[in-house]
Amino acid sequence: MENETLTITDHRTGKSYTLPFFKGCIRTMDLRQIKVSDDDFGVMGYDPAFMNTASCQSAITFIDGDRGILRYRGYPIDQLAEKCSYLEVCYLILHGELPNADQLKAWEAEVTRHSMVQEDVKKLLEGFQKDAHPMGTLMSLVAALSTYYPDAKNIHDPACRKLQILRLLAKTPTLAAYVYRHSLGLPYVAPDHTLTYAENFMNMLWKLVADPGWKPNKVLARALDVLFILHADHEQNCSTNTMRSVGSSQADPFSSVAAAIAALSGPLHGGANEEVLKMLDEIGTVENIPGFIEQVKAGKGKLMGFGHRVYKNYDPRAKIIKQTADAVFAVTGRNPKLEIAIELEKIALSDEYFIKRKLYPNVDFYSGIIYQAMGFKPDIFTVLFAIGRMVGWLAQWEEMLNDKEQKIARPRQIYTGYGERPVPK
Ligand code: SDX
Repeated sequence: MENETLTITDHRTGKSYTLPFFKGCIRTMDLRQIKVSDDDFGVMGYDPAFMNTASCQSAITFIDGDRGILRYRGYPIDQLAEKCSYLEVCYLILHGELPNADQLKAWEAEVTRHSMVQEDVKKLLEGFQKDAHPMGTLMSLVAALSTYYPDAKNIHDPACRKLQILRLLAKTPTLAAYVYRHSLGLPYVAPDHTLTYAENFMNMLWKLVADPGWKPNKVLARALDVLFILHADHEQNCSTNTMRSVGSSQADPFSSVAAAIAALSGPLHGGANEEVLKMLDEIGTVENIPGFIEQVKAGKGKLMGFGHRVYKNYDPRAKIIKQTADAVFAVTGRNPKLEIAIELEKIALSDEYFIKRKLYPNVDFYSGIIYQAMGFKPDIFTVLFAIGRMVGWLAQWEEMLNDKEQKIARPRQIYTGYGERPVPK
């Protein structure tokens, strides 16, 4: 609006500058006019870890961290989780609108058609140890796919981008299932086009050739579908920032996704769901919780699955995951770790250390307990996060490519090293 400006006075020169607000922000480039001399580079913003920096404009996901609000393209996450399938939400996140019945049918058929992977992938897998961490194997396989599909480099061609997006959405569950089967030394199960996205994934993971009658449990498949929806996108998180940054060099989407998977694997990000289970195992019993909390407050470790850069209230996804747990446990039997997690949450949320720092359970606190009850081993939990987040990475990547303001990501720095000095002879 008119007159929405900020005036800054540089007391080094006595000069004042009036900068226009842009959607509540200051364009950091407008600071560069603030100089002490003509050959001065000008003022930069300094913001380690981007605590207060908007790197882009995006219309995909809205988060209000103080009110615990999460919406994909304007739709509240709880309504999407209740009323939609994961592929329906993928269509929404990528296209901006929910699909009608015909669009959804065609979309499901397109994704399903791309779920096979080339036989050479099985040869690649033979090069990995049986106990290789699944995230390391998955990121390697996705990077390898960039060599199988050299056409993916045509990133400015919308039809080509759509083909790669379909390939990545469809093949990631197949790759993940193959990684799991390789770790057990079991034969691979090919995708079954008669099953839903989550059922097909479960089928490729758990179907035993000796048990041709086995079928994925529909309640568990729906729970997995909901978990994929909850993980689908989350605005400019660490792995999405990585996807945008690598994609900004015009690398192909397989290479950018491999980098995003690498970022997600960190224990402070997507790797936290696996760390939560290790933490609950370490605590062992409800009686041990107060001692563990004291250790955390003494700075000896973190309460994994708690805290968030944006949410300073309850992560709305954690609430829905807790509700989903009941449906899963009705089929699998209750995971005893849930008691420890619920008591841990109760004690933490009443402790000044956590209250003062606005630390609440995040998406990773309860998800692992459900995954474990469903039969997943902890080291594959973050792979499940990656499957769900694939659509968010791809939608944010495409939005970046279509954003006329975006260029190759190349931050500046404050140099703190030596001045020039001669190499000693
Ligand atoms: C995800 O960004 C996203 O949207 C991510 C994500 C997504 O969908 O993409 O939501 C998914 O990554 C969820 C977060 C999963 N990670 C964890 O659960 C790991 C444990 N959490 C923390 O490491 C931490 O809370 C982060 C990394 C999530 C957020 O870190 P910040 O914003 O950089 O906050 P910080 O580390 O500066 O912490 C502020 C204070 C510090 O205390 P003081 O130094 O001020 O005394 O809070 C403390 C921290 O020590 N703190 C914790 C804590 N998290 C923060 N203390 C104990 N346990 C914790 N979990």
